[in-house]
Amino acid sequence: CIKDNASITVFGASGDLAKKKTFPALFGLFRDDLLPKNLVILGYARSKLEHDDFLKRITQYITVNSEDDKQKLEAFKQKCNYLSGAYDQPEAFETLEKRLRELEGERDVRNRMYYLALPPDVFVPVVTNLKKKCYPENGIMRVIMEKPFGHDLKSAKELQAQLDPLLTEEELYRIDHYLGKEMVKNISFLRFANPVLAHIWNKNSIANVQVTFKESIGTEGRGGYFDSSTIIRDVIQNHLIQVVTLLAMEIPSSFNSEDVRDEKVKVLKRMRVGDIKDIVLGQFTKSEDGSKPGYLDDKTVPEGSRCPTFAAIPFFIDNERWKGVPFLLKAGKALNQSKVEIRIQLKDSAAGLFDDIYRNELVIRIQPDEAVYMKVNVKYPGLRTEPILTELDLTYSRRFENMKINEAYEALLLAAFRGDQSNFVRSDELEYAWGILDPVLSWLDNDRPEPLPYTYGSRGPAALDEFMQKFGFVHHGPDSYQYPTTR
Ligand code: BG6
Repeated sequence: CIKDNASITVFGASGDLAKKKTFPALFGLFRDDLLPKNLVILGYARSKLEHDDFLKRITQYITVNSEDDKQKLEAFKQKCNYLSGAYDQPEAFETLEKRLRELEGERDVRNRMYYLALPPDVFVPVVTNLKKKCYPENGIMRVIMEKPFGHDLKSAKELQAQLDPLLTEEELYRIDHYLGKEMVKNISFLRFANPVLAHIWNKNSIANVQVTFKESIGTEGRGGYFDSSTIIRDVIQNHLIQVVTLLAMEIPSSFNSEDVRDEKVKVLKRMRVGDIKDIVLGQFTKSEDGSKPGYLDDKTVPEGSRCPTFAAIPFFIDNERWKGVPFLLKAGKALNQSKVEIRIQLKDSAAGLFDDIYRNELVIRIQPDEAVYMKVNVKYPGLRTEPILTELDLTYSRRFENMKINEAYEALLLAAFRGDQSNFVRSDELEYAWGILDPVLSWLDNDRPEPLPYTYGSRGPAALDEFMQKFGFVHHGPDSYQYPTTR
């Protein structure tokens, strides 16, 4: 655990992620007094920025609601430093070492965290230079790395092979911010702390599992990155597959990071994509009123691109617990709403007493408005003797007054300072996750299937309904459930 004598250097400090996530998360931890004592914070990037411009940039997404927080933000700014330099020149890292030493002052131990929010082509040069010029001989070094970790199985392996001589697995923290989300961390609590759920968590009771990621914004301005990434690499390969491993793993022998990740890897080893023919791919076109651009209207997107901005893919896990249960992963940009949820549909009741009841469904709403609810049948209240579908409802904002749910990045940065890797992705997890998707990725590259068009702001391609039916999802008509804060 790094409690003291620590510094964090954020590479890519002038970029989008740093200003939207990394620095706001560092501030969140600073405000709550959770950072190591006397932490040195240094931003590093190629851009030549004046100190004030740097501060403006990294604080523009931070909101403060009280006088106290305002003061804390001022104090936080005092702690933030900036250095501009190259990523591939050893001399630049000599300057970095010098600057870090100045900021750190005299210390017996130098614990250093290097946070890499960088384009993949500079990962290796940066780590090489850090190892040569900025390695704390007396202290701990941890490198937090943002995706993409490769483009497919082959490139992920190549990247890892280049990193192997430079960093131990204990020094490398591959971040997948979904693992820091409250409701994703909640999966293990729900499953393993509640016999009522633990006992139904298998192919005997569960008909199908869906993990759905919907965003109401498109890829505006990110077309260049997104086009080679596709929704599959951007969201499914990492965030959604990680969620599945937590949903499907066996109970680990402890919450220790190796025990948890061993169990997740066992799931990945048995997981495969269903029939490629069943995959639904989509690409958004402009909105009905023309106010939002279609994917291809983005100047940064290559003409005639067939990049899917929507995908629904069936997966199966061939083990004793899950054989035959479809895991339906669906993700899309420019849809009718922003929502991420897990929906577990149970099989029909075998009692045969009722003919007009619905399937139970357990829904874990990851965002927005965290909730867990179970769709259940009850007797219609009053003298009627018929069933009605309703919800056992745990909406967090109603149940936990004044609750504070920390940002995923806060949780993960804190875990990294504490040396807890359980919510970071291990190298074997990463390789298996790529391996599972390899058939889909080669199909995309070789056959260039044409994605189905869907209108910006719609539910996605119409073929989705057929897809859901095919995998046994029984629809109950419009979702009657109203969320208190999104109504
Ligand atoms: C990122 C993807 O990893 O996750 C983005 O690159 C996506 O395309 C984002 O928008 C979603 O994160 P969140 O936390 O907003 O759900």
